[in-house]
Amino acid sequence: MKTFTQLEDANGYPCLPNLQDLKRKNKISMLTRGLILDKDAIEKIMKVFNNEMKLGLSKNPTAKSSLQMENTFIPELPDGTENGYFMALDLGGTHCRVLLVHLKDGLQEEPLVQYYDVPENIRLGPGTQLFDFLAAKIHNFMERNDLLHLHLPLGFTFSFPMVQKALDVGVLVTWTKSFNCSGVVGNDAVKMLNEAIARRKDLHVNVVAILNDTTGTLVQGAYLNSKCGIGLILGTGSNACYMEKSANVEKWSDNKNVSQVIIDCEWGAFGDNGVLDFIKTDFDRQVDANSLLVNSFTFEKYFSGQYMGEVVRVILVKLIDEGHLFEGKKPIKLMKKQSFITAYISQIESDKEDTYNTKAVLKEFDILDEASEEDIQIIRYICSIISVRAALLISVCIASLLIHMDRQETVIAVDGSLFKYHPKLPSLMNKHIEALAKEHKFKLILAEDGSGKGAGLIAAIATRLTKSKSSNGSSHD
Ligand code: GLC
Repeated sequence: MKTFTQLEDANGYPCLPNLQDLKRKNKISMLTRGLILDKDAIEKIMKVFNNEMKLGLSKNPTAKSSLQMENTFIPELPDGTENGYFMALDLGGTHCRVLLVHLKDGLQEEPLVQYYDVPENIRLGPGTQLFDFLAAKIHNFMERNDLLHLHLPLGFTFSFPMVQKALDVGVLVTWTKSFNCSGVVGNDAVKMLNEAIARRKDLHVNVVAILNDTTGTLVQGAYLNSKCGIGLILGTGSNACYMEKSANVEKWSDNKNVSQVIIDCEWGAFGDNGVLDFIKTDFDRQVDANSLLVNSFTFEKYFSGQYMGEVVRVILVKLIDEGHLFEGKKPIKLMKKQSFITAYISQIESDKEDTYNTKAVLKEFDILDEASEEDIQIIRYICSIISVRAALLISVCIASLLIHMDRQETVIAVDGSLFKYHPKLPSLMNKHIEALAKEHKFKLILAEDGSGKGAGLIAAIATRLTKSKSSNGSSHD
C-alpha cells in the first residue's frame, strides 16, 4: 500500500492518499488532474519558452512575445575595483528598504539596512505620493545614520516591468503584485524619484541607476561567485535575468561596443499572450479573477509567493463545494480570498511523518476539530502537487536559459522568501534542472538581499562606467 510520502512519478508528484471511499478518491483525482504536468507538457513549455525568448530578443518579431527580454544596460559585473559609499533603495513588495553599501576595493562591508512598511494607501494611491514617501524614507535613513551632509549616488531597485532606455531611465510598463499607483505607467521612475528628492530640498542623493531585483541578485551573485550568470527571484513575484551576448540582442541596434549585457526576461508575464493556455486550469483562472490585476502575469500566478497560497485555497474551496473535504462544511476564514498565504504551504510541506504543522495551519482557520485524518492528508497532497508544479515550471525556464547560454558552468543566484522558506523547492529544482539541462553544470546559490546589496554594486558600476566614459569620451569602454 502506498503512503503519502511515496513518490508517484519521476517528477516528484506524490500519490493521492488512500481514502476509504474510492469514489471520493477518484473524484479528487479527476479534479486535480490538470495540475499534474507530464513529460509532454514539460517539453512543450520548454519549446514555447525558447520561442518566446527568441521573439522577445528579435528586432522585427513575427508575433508579440510575452517575454519582454528587457535590456538592462548593465554590460559589466563587479570587477573588484569598486570603492566608496553607495545608497540603495529597494521597492517591490509590501516593504521597501534603504541601504548604505560600503565597497573597499570591491569588497562589501555588511551594509546598513532599514526596512519600511509600504502601506496599502501608498501602494494604491497617486504616484507622486509614492515617490514622496520613498524620498521621505531615504531622508529618514540618512538622518538616522548621520549621512545627510554627504552627496551619494543611489541605485534604485524597482521590481516592476520597465522599458529601459539607459541605465538610469526606466519607464514603467504596468504595475504588478500589490501595487497600482496612478500616474506612473508610461513614466520614468528615476525622473519621478529625482523630482521627489528635489521637492524636499534637503537630500543630496543622485539616482545613477535603475534596476530590477533579478538584476541586483545576479550582480550580488557575481560578487559572491564569478561563475554567476543568472539572477532568479522566487518571492512575492517571480522573474529571472541572465547574461546575454549583445550580438543576440537583435532589437538593440546600438549594441556594438559591449560584448554582453544583462537581459531581464520579465517571465512573470510569460503566457499572457495565450501560449501557456494548455496548462491553465479552472483553478488558475479563478486565482487570476481574484487578483488585483486580472488577465496578466500568467506565469507568476501559477506559483509565486503572492499567489501560490491562493491557488491552494481555490482548490480546497472547490473540494469543499463538492463535498470532498470537511464533509462539505464551509470554514468561514478559508472562504475569504487570499486568506491562505503561501507561508502556510511551506509550513504544511515541512511535515514529514507527523502532521503537526498541517494541524497548526488548520487551527488558524478554526477547522482543526472538523478535519478528519483523511482531510489532513488531502490538504497535504494539494500543497504538495502545487509545490511540484511550481518547481517544474521554474526549472523548465532555468534549464532553457542554461541551454541557451551554453556555458561550461553557471551559478544561479536566487533570492526571495519562496526559495528561502519552502522546505522542498530548492531540492526539487536541483533535481529537475539537472534532468532538463543534462549537459550543463549549474549551482543554485542564495544571494540574500541581492536586490538591495546588488543595487549598491550597480550604483558603483554605473559610477565607474560614467567615469570611464568621461575620460574616454566614448559611449562605452
Ligand atoms: C514581478 C515584476 C518583476 C520582478 C518580479 C519579482 O514579476 O514584474 O519585475 O522581478 O515581480 O519581484
